[in-house]
Amino acid sequence: MTKLDPEIREAINGRHGEAERAGTRKCLMNRRQFLLTGGIATTVIMVSVPGMPEAQTPAAISTYPRKFIAKLSELETDRPMDFEYPDEGPYAESILVKLGREAGGGLGPDRDVVAFNYTCTHQGGSLYGTYQADDKALGPCPLHLTTFDLTRHGIFISGQAYQSLPQVLLELDGDDIFAVGMFGLIYGRFDNLMA
Ligand code: FES
Repeated sequence: MTKLDPEIREAINGRHGEAERAGTRKCLMNRRQFLLTGGIATTVIMVSVPGMPEAQTPAAISTYPRKFIAKLSELETDRPMDFEYPDEGPYAESILVKLGREAGGGLGPDRDVVAFNYTCTHQGGSLYGTYQADDKALGPCPLHLTTFDLTRHGIFISGQAYQSLPQVLLELDGDDIFAVGMFGLIYGRFDNLMA
């Protein structure tokens, strides 16, 4: 696994102390930063800042592994499959599912294939086995009943959580689906890449 530059890690997740003091585990990377980086990239590019010829700024983020998850042609609507990402450490359990309905960040010709981390962002309850085909949702969480909408980037629908479920970013290469990054901080981690 590529080692993440501490400054870039901080840009995504904030300082460790910040997260602790705030009592949150949210991703501190804002939407603009996310769009600028495309969520992930494979290299760190150094760019010059106009008017500051000496300055160089990291413009992209490189770190997440590219992991094969499944064949698109083998997925069936509302038949989830499980995998681990970005590693095999704590809280890495994730769900890949073809929703049969267009979704934010959806992959494939129908933009309906999405993946999310299985760990509830409230207090870490496992959402394994809670996929609701009718509502295209995960939940309710067995601890405090939060339910997350998988068509809208994992936003909570009801319950105690106030952070969206971390979404696994997917890439299609022919018929192969790869996990290539994450948007949102996994519960229980101060850095998605440090198990
Ligand atoms: S841990 Fe899931 S709602 Fe509290």
